[in-house]
Amino acid sequence: MPDSPLSRLSERLPTLMLKASPEDLEFYGRDWTRRWEPAPLAIALPTTTQEVQAIVRWAVEEGICIVPSGGRTGLSGGAVAANGELVVSFERMNAVLDFDPVDRIMTVQPGLALEALQRAASDHDLIYPVDFAARGSCSIGGNIATNAGGIRVIRYGNTREWIAGLKVVTGTGELLDLNRGLVKNSSGYDLRHLLIGSEGTLGLVVEASVRLADPPPAANVMVLAVPAMDALMKVFESCRKKLNLNAFEFFTDRALAHVVGQGAQDPFEQASPFYLVAEFDAETEVQQALAGEVFEECFEQGWVNDGVISQSSAQAASLWRLREGITESLAPLRPYKNDISVRTSLIPAFMQAMHEIFEREYPDCEVVWFGHIGDGNLHINVIRSVGTSDEQFVADCERVTALLSDTLSRFGGSISAEHGIGLVKKKYLAGTRSEAEIALMRGIRKVLDPHGIMNPGKVFDTA
Ligand code: MLT
Ligand code: ZN
Repeated sequence: MPDSPLSRLSERLPTLMLKASPEDLEFYGRDWTRRWEPAPLAIALPTTTQEVQAIVRWAVEEGICIVPSGGRTGLSGGAVAANGELVVSFERMNAVLDFDPVDRIMTVQPGLALEALQRAASDHDLIYPVDFAARGSCSIGGNIATNAGGIRVIRYGNTREWIAGLKVVTGTGELLDLNRGLVKNSSGYDLRHLLIGSEGTLGLVVEASVRLADPPPAANVMVLAVPAMDALMKVFESCRKKLNLNAFEFFTDRALAHVVGQGAQDPFEQASPFYLVAEFDAETEVQQALAGEVFEECFEQGWVNDGVISQSSAQAASLWRLREGITESLAPLRPYKNDISVRTSLIPAFMQAMHEIFEREYPDCEVVWFGHIGDGNLHINVIRSVGTSDEQFVADCERVTALLSDTLSRFGGSISAEHGIGLVKKKYLAGTRSEAEIALMRGIRKVLDPHGIMNPGKVFDTA
């Protein structure tokens, strides 16, 4: 092999698996965004922390940038490698390393799939409660990198709440062992939380200690048909008063049409513009009766037209499919994705403001609204009209996203609730974070990644 950065990496780490076939470069160089042409230098698949440290030191010496890679299910381009970077894939670091029943902490490698972690937890009669539709393909390392949220945040919080310790390799190859599973630790800055949500720009997660919880009581799922936008949060208030909610989600008739087009069962005879999905504790007859009371109240008030409550776990799964199947049903259309949040109480006013902008600015596009409305997190997916080129479509969407970003600033919201900033939302970060905050983030990045090799170009530009 001629002398080259890659040959020198192989010399240094003779057992390190490297891939560089055109198919591999394509496969590992992109995530679910499909907007950028992948063009990494190669893919390294380490199996140990020491290898990861050696890769980072090599990258510093060679001036080669690193893009960390988990399940690449990201929707913001955070795992895209389009500029000759070395992709560091954690797919061979996917083991459960340890479980301590007293601490109820499971220590895992970053490449472990979320679903595999959930299964490993259930082997000990516990749960890892963060959950969302990409569970089979996404990895815990990627979840940590974006502080992933999902469908049960209202009950359990985001990924951040469940990370008791992190081992991280910084941009100089140094290994940090952060918080070590401590429940209480009031000894200065908590760097663990700085790393969570940093999208691979501050360091590479090589090990995570995650907290597990008791399984929840039996739950039921209720899907409600809602006639008007302004009723959505009234139903939420009513549900919250009486039910112990695990999830409170919404979608529109357009979203429903896409999922039903993929084979899901529409439980309603009459169409409604909006639908809500509530999952709630239903262990006792009293709890089950409360759901009936909520439904009656909402029906009498005219906030709900119709509703269905699951009578079995199979029916609960089929009702969940109506919400969880949306992303997959839209994927072939390559929608432009918005992932915004505002304080939950501001949702009605914010939705109205957005609705007006989207009606005016997207006259020819289909706009599909859904999301975690109980968390104040909306996913608004825009589908191009037939014949629009990629360039034109992105340009149109970016113009409207600038308006969205201004509106979010007014509402004190965020341009990314759970998908991350990556490449897609970089332009709009300043609508969500102040200049002073971005300057501090830049400074922090410089400290942990002084050579600027860690996922450059993501979240914000450093130069
Ligand atoms: C979801 O909640 O289904 C995804 O985070 C949203 C999306 O695909 O835009
Ligand atoms: Zn989501």
